[in-house]
Amino acid sequence: MEINLSQIGMEQGRQYETIITTVDEKGNPNAAPIGVICAADNIIILRIFKGSHTLDNIISQREFIVNITHDPEVFQISTIRNLPEDYFNEDNTLKCAEAYFKCEVISLTEAVKQSDPIKKKDEAIVIKSKVVDLVINENTQAVNRGFGYVIESLSNLTRFDMVSTEQKELYLNRFREANRVVTKVGRKEDIKAMREIKKELKSKGYDL
Ligand SMILES: Cc1cc2nc3c(=O)[nH]c(=O)nc-3n(C[C@H](O)[C@H](O)[C@H](O)COP(=O)(O)O)c2cc1C
Repeated sequence: MEINLSQIGMEQGRQYETIITTVDEKGNPNAAPIGVICAADNIIILRIFKGSHTLDNIISQREFIVNITHDPEVFQISTIRNLPEDYFNEDNTLKCAEAYFKCEVISLTEAVKQSDPIKKKDEAIVIKSKVVDLVINENTQAVNRGFGYVIESLSNLTRFDMVSTEQKELYLNRFREANRVVTKVGRKEDIKAMREIKKELKSKGYDL
């Protein structure tokens, strides 16, 4: 069967939060949360800041694994410290992976996106890769940051009329940030929901 990332809910042009596993030259495994942009059915794009083990390993090995998981502990551990070896299978996939796909690097390009809050030039590498194998262990959808922001924004919206002016300003700032992120990485349904929340806030007279 042809590889198509839509089988795990990945839409073209959208970004998903995954755990990328790599190995170094000595075969030591590494895991890190990384955003994966779905560029086509079987093509993805990563942007990884210099200085990470993940980037070094991808440059040296030219291959990596993208693990789809909803396990917050694995995201937390692999962000703050090293994920212990007993979280990995022999083939360097994660034991908790609901699905995973193996990738081979097509190109590595120095880049910095102007919309990013991190402006320093030459700090990141954009990695275009081909998906060469997709394994679905259970029915799953890749994690997208948009939905959480929609729920948070709706929850704040219901409290707007009950809070102080100071708290309202805090909620508005949170909404602005939520809207920025959802517009950048969210699914079309999340973007639509945020648009409606924005309309509602505007109709209440808030300046956005
Ligand atoms: C949800 C999430 C997404 C992330 N996405 C990226 C990313 O796309 N690019 C990047 O350079 N770092 C990203 N990071 C930060 C790296 O995971 C972090 O720097 C990590 O410590 C790198 O680990 P490593 O040195 O083992 O590769 C992300 C972190 C989180 C929590």
